[in-house]
Amino acid sequence: MPRIREPELIPMQHPPLQAWPPLEKHLHRCCERCEKKKKRNRLLLVLLIVFLLYLLGNTVFLNVRVLNMTPQSSSPPAASASPTTMASSGVLSADAQQCISQYNLNAPTDPQSYPCSTCYPVLSAVPSNFSDGNSQDAQTIANAVQFCGLRSVFESASGDGQTGLANGGWVKDVRFCAWSGVKCDGFGRVASLQLTFPSVPASIPTELGGLTGLTNLQVIGDTNIPAGSLPSSFAQLTALTSLDLESTALTAIDDTLFSSLSNVTTLTLVKNAKMGNELPSSLFSLPLQNLVVNGQSLSSDALSNITSSMSLRTSLKLLDLSSTLLSGPIPASISSLTALTELHLDANALTTPLPSAFPASLQALTLTNNTQLTGAVAAGSAFCALSRLQTCDVRGTGLSAQGACGPCQFS
Ligand SMILES: *[C@@H]1O[C@H](CO)[C@@H](O)[C@H](O)[C@H]1NC(C)=O
Ligand SMILES: *[C@@H]1O[C@H](CO)[C@@H](O)[C@H](O)[C@H]1NC(C)=O
Ligand SMILES: *[C@@H]1O[C@H](CO)[C@@H](O)[C@H](O)[C@H]1NC(C)=O
Ligand SMILES: *[C@@H]1O[C@H](CO)[C@@H](O)[C@H](O)[C@H]1NC(C)=O
Repeated sequence: MPRIREPELIPMQHPPLQAWPPLEKHLHRCCERCEKKKKRNRLLLVLLIVFLLYLLGNTVFLNVRVLNMTPQSSSPPAASASPTTMASSGVLSADAQQCISQYNLNAPTDPQSYPCSTCYPVLSAVPSNFSDGNSQDAQTIANAVQFCGLRSVFESASGDGQTGLANGGWVKDVRFCAWSGVKCDGFGRVASLQLTFPSVPASIPTELGGLTGLTNLQVIGDTNIPAGSLPSSFAQLTALTSLDLESTALTAIDDTLFSSLSNVTTLTLVKNAKMGNELPSSLFSLPLQNLVVNGQSLSSDALSNITSSMSLRTSLKLLDLSSTLLSGPIPASISSLTALTELHLDANALTTPLPSAFPASLQALTLTNNTQLTGAVAAGSAFCALSRLQTCDVRGTGLSAQGACGPCQFS
C-alpha cells in the first residue's frame, strides 16, 4: 500500500490549517475508488493554502510599505507620484495592483486599515483615461481614490466630528455613496459633498482633491474649524460648479484657483473671518452666475472690480455682498451688470449719491441698514425707474421717496 505523502506545500504554520487533520485519517482507509476523491481534496487543500498565502502576502507587502513610507500628505498630489506608479501603456505597477486587490479583498470588511497613505498617491496618479482592458480595475481605482479622499476628511475631524460622521455611516464600510452628506452620480463618482459642524475636518485634507467628479461642495464650520488654507490639490476639483464655504477659519483663497475651477457658477462665502478682504482675481474671468459674500469684510473696490469684469458683466445674476463693511457710493458702473436680477447690499456703510441707473434686469433690490444712505429718491430715478422690480427694500436707511417708487419700502 502506497504511503500517503504529506502535503509539501506548507512552508509555515498557519492557524486555519490546523482545522484540517481529520481529513488525512479518513483518507487512509479509502479504497481505490476513493483515490479520486482524495486527490480532489488534496487539490482543494493546496488551493486554499495558495489563497491564504496570497492574502497574507498582500497584507505583509502593503503594511511593510506603509511602515517604510514617509507621510504623503505634505507632498504635492498626482503629478509627483513615484516613477513605479504606473506604465502609461495600460500596465499597472505592482504597487497599484496590490492597492487594487487589497481594496477589493480587505477594505470591505476592514475599511479603517486600508493603507490610504500608500495607495492614495499610487492610485490617484493613474491617468483617468487608463484602461487595462479590465473595466473593473478602472472602477476599483476610482472607488479607492474617492474612499481615501473621504476617509481623510473623517480622519481630520475631531472626536465629536468623527462621532457625527460615524453616525452617518462614515468609514464603517466602503459604500461611501451612502454616507451622510455624500451624493454620487450615476457613475459612482462623488458629485456632492456637504459637511456641517461638528462633522467637519480640522483642515481641508490634500486627498479631497481625489474627488474629481465633485460638482457641489458645501462646508459649514463653527468659525474655528476648518482652518488653514485650501490645499493646492483643491485645484483638481475641476468639475466643481458650486463652492460654498461658511463659518470657517480658512485663509485667503489662492488668487489663481478659479483659473482651474473654471466651471464654478456659484460661489458662496459666509462668515469666513480669516479670508481677508480681497476677492481672488481669477474670479473675475469666470462666467459666474451667483456671487454671495456675507458677514466677512471686503475692501471697497470690490463692487467696481466686479462691474469692470467683462465676464461677470454678462453672466452675473445674483450679487449679494451684505454685511461686508462696503463703504462709499455704489459705483455708477453697476448698470453694466446686464444680467443681474438680484442685488443685495444690506448692512454696509454705503453712501450717497446713488447711481443714476441700476441694471434694467433687476427684480430684487435690498439696501437695508445702510444708515449713511440719505436723501430723497425721485420718482423715475435710480431704482424707482426699474420696470421689472418686484422686491425693493431700503428700510433702515435715511432714504425717502419723492413720488412713486415701485414696490420699494422706505422707513
Ligand atoms: C490618455 O491621456 C494622455 C494625456 O492626457 C494622452 O497622452 C494619452 O494618449 C491618453 N491615452 C488614451 C489611451 O487615450
Ligand atoms: C465643465 O462644464 C462643461 C459644460 O457644462 C462640461 O462639458 C465639462 O465637462 C465641465 N468640465 C469638467 C471638468 O467637468
Ligand atoms: C480690485 O482690483 C485691484 C486691482 O487689481 C486689487 O488690488 C484689489 O485687491 C481688488 N479688490 C478686491 C476686493 O478684490
Ligand atoms: C437691519 O437692522 C434691523 C434692526 O437692527 C435688524 O433687525 C435686521 O436684521 C437688519 N437687517 C439686516 C439685513 O442686517
